[in-house]
Amino acid sequence: MVKRKTDPYRIKRITESIIGLPTLPTIVSKMLELVDNPRTSAASLARLISSDQTLTARILKLANSAYYGFPREISTVNMAIVVLGFNTVKEMGLSLSVFDVFRNQENVSVFDVSRFWEHSIGCGIASRMLARNYHSRNASEAFVAGLLHDIGKIILNQYFHGEFAQIMDMVSKGDTLDDAEEMVIGTSHAQVGCWLAERWNLPEIISQTILCHHHPWTAKKDNVFIATVTLGDYLCHLCNIGNSGRASINGLDARIWEIFQNEKVPVDEPDLANLQTDFLLEFDKADTFISLIQDQKQ
Ligand SMILES: [Fe+2]
Ligand SMILES: [Fe+2]
Repeated sequence: MVKRKTDPYRIKRITESIIGLPTLPTIVSKMLELVDNPRTSAASLARLISSDQTLTARILKLANSAYYGFPREISTVNMAIVVLGFNTVKEMGLSLSVFDVFRNQENVSVFDVSRFWEHSIGCGIASRMLARNYHSRNASEAFVAGLLHDIGKIILNQYFHGEFAQIMDMVSKGDTLDDAEEMVIGTSHAQVGCWLAERWNLPEIISQTILCHHHPWTAKKDNVFIATVTLGDYLCHLCNIGNSGRASINGLDARIWEIFQNEKVPVDEPDLANLQTDFLLEFDKADTFISLIQDQKQ
């Protein structure tokens, strides 16, 4: 494997190619507005989902799955919201829609797209759980930020497939992800994901979380929120939920715990064991949801 030296023109070329990125489908942007707005009603969510037949069919399939074991047939989105709960249906709709934008991804030998989505949803669930525990106002946003934190990898896999395969190969041979990205593309999946989020006009807190999720202490604001997603990401790795294409991680940077301490957020390293148990319980509930998303690959 020839390691290329970073070519600054590549950064520019990538930036320009990003202009060709998919635009956010209307259904996803409306879904994000609903997530953003605490006054969203069950009726408006049901209306939005019902306007998309495919999404409706998938949500009903999930609602009627053995996992939920509801004795009667759930035939409408409204009824699904009653049975599964408002937040579950909202987050399910958002995840399925985002996934749709990046359908038809090719696997590379060391990057399994299904397992990537499992990692993303796992991080969404872990981040929401942590946010609910420590700063509840942002729990829904934490799910979205967790879901999208590594979206740059999907972009790289889709639009810069050769380079991405090379990065993954270097990581599998022991390079750090940071070094491999710097070496091959001169930028990072975090930066690429942030470009996408900005293009999609996602809230700044989401684009900044994507940008700084490996180094929350470098963010100008919302450090606790970003560190929450970093910790959610770490919990997924500790619990082997999905696979983001990263090699094993040796502990969490001490600066993450400092962010929590400085803001008096009551979480510290000794809590990790309990957090893993809580997260696994929470993640189990999403099992059917994950398999439904993976079904869509066919
Ligand atoms: Fe990442
Ligand atoms: Fe990740």
